[in-house]
Amino acid sequence: MFKELRQEIKGMITKVNIPVDNRLQQICNLLKESIPYYDWVGFYFKNGDKDELKLGAYAGEPTDHAIIPFGKGICGQVALSDKNFVVPDVKAQDNYIACSINVKAEIVVPLFVNGENIGQIDIDSNTPDPFTTEDERFLEFVNQEVAKIL
Ligand code: SME
Repeated sequence: MFKELRQEIKGMITKVNIPVDNRLQQICNLLKESIPYYDWVGFYFKNGDKDELKLGAYAGEPTDHAIIPFGKGICGQVALSDKNFVVPDVKAQDNYIACSINVKAEIVVPLFVNGENIGQIDIDSNTPDPFTTEDERFLEFVNQEVAKIL
């Protein structure tokens, strides 16, 4: 599954005539539709000079959390740690921002441009403990591809 998706992502990234935001939207849609346990897929980016994240393209239910201060929730922690954050059970997290009562697990992978953490991809799952190191490697790949067009 991930092998084919890698090729599709590469194809989407190279469509230079499509605006970047639309390409990010296509990637969110592709991941949400192709991977059964990806129920919400979105990109957050550092909001200008502010120490906060702003929601960019996403696929899934709308969220109230379009702005997340650095340090808050799983996303805000990744903005500071520069590290992947895999959450098998969101109920076990103290510093967690709930977007939907259906969400059981989450993975957030930072996105680097020239070595700088400028955002992240965030996946919510309604399935408990679904993420493996394969998801981490795949989402790192997605972010490396996206970094090429930012
Ligand atoms: N759960 C995230 C907030 C973003 S929503 O999942 C879309 C967090 O704790 O940072």
